[in-house]
Amino acid sequence: MWPPKPPSPSEARQVTAWRLRPWQPADVPAVAALSRAVFDMPWSETHFAHEVAADDSRGWVAVAADTRGSGQVVGVVVLWVLPPEAEIATLAVHPAWQRQGIGRALLEHALAWACTRADARVVLLEVRADNQPALHLYRALGFVEVGRRRGYYTTRHGRVDALIMRRPCGPLWRPSP
Ligand SMILES: CC(C)(COP(=O)(O)OP(=O)(O)OC[C@H]1O[C@@H](n2cnc3c(N)ncnc32)[C@H](O)[C@@H]1OP(=O)(O)O)[C@@H](O)C(=O)NCCC(=O)NCCS
Repeated sequence: MWPPKPPSPSEARQVTAWRLRPWQPADVPAVAALSRAVFDMPWSETHFAHEVAADDSRGWVAVAADTRGSGQVVGVVVLWVLPPEAEIATLAVHPAWQRQGIGRALLEHALAWACTRADARVVLLEVRADNQPALHLYRALGFVEVGRRRGYYTTRHGRVDALIMRRPCGPLWRPSP
């Protein structure tokens, strides 16, 4: 069943298990449901179906691998590959699975893939200026704000700026000679 049930207090104390894998067309309904669970303006199933089939798009999912929801999609990252640039198109972790390192792992994997397999020189992304969890994560991984689109997002609470962030592919993500 999706979405996974929030953990009970005893389950929350357990070490949870998950793994990353490339996404596939069969993941689209679960990924769209995940997007609806976390975003005010989620991508539709049609949009994700287009992404999973697009040559310039790559995606990975985090899949639960423990008794809380074995096999269920609990996180997703989508990368647009436009060498010499790449862009994090979406990143989401189900609320019941946040703060367990899944978002960081998905983002690091997409970054590494962009910078080693897709020959990107820089990775870009766009984020709501009031999204503190995401901003903490992006800054921790070396993204720096390079632009601002004023009032870009329409939310239930009014308009919110979009920040454009940029992260050069450093030596960490260059393929070894
Ligand atoms: C942003 C998001 C993907 C992070 O995923 P996550 O799996 O919870 O993140 P992680 O557990 O890997 O945390 C990595 C780092 O992110 C930051 N972070 C994550 N959640 C945070 C929070 N609630 N408050 C502050 N910092 C937070 C921290 O720096 C954290 O490192 P730490 O745990 O060592 O302090 C998740 O909160 C999410 O899906 N949010 C809703 C969708 C969204 O906003 N996506 C990004 C759109 S641009």
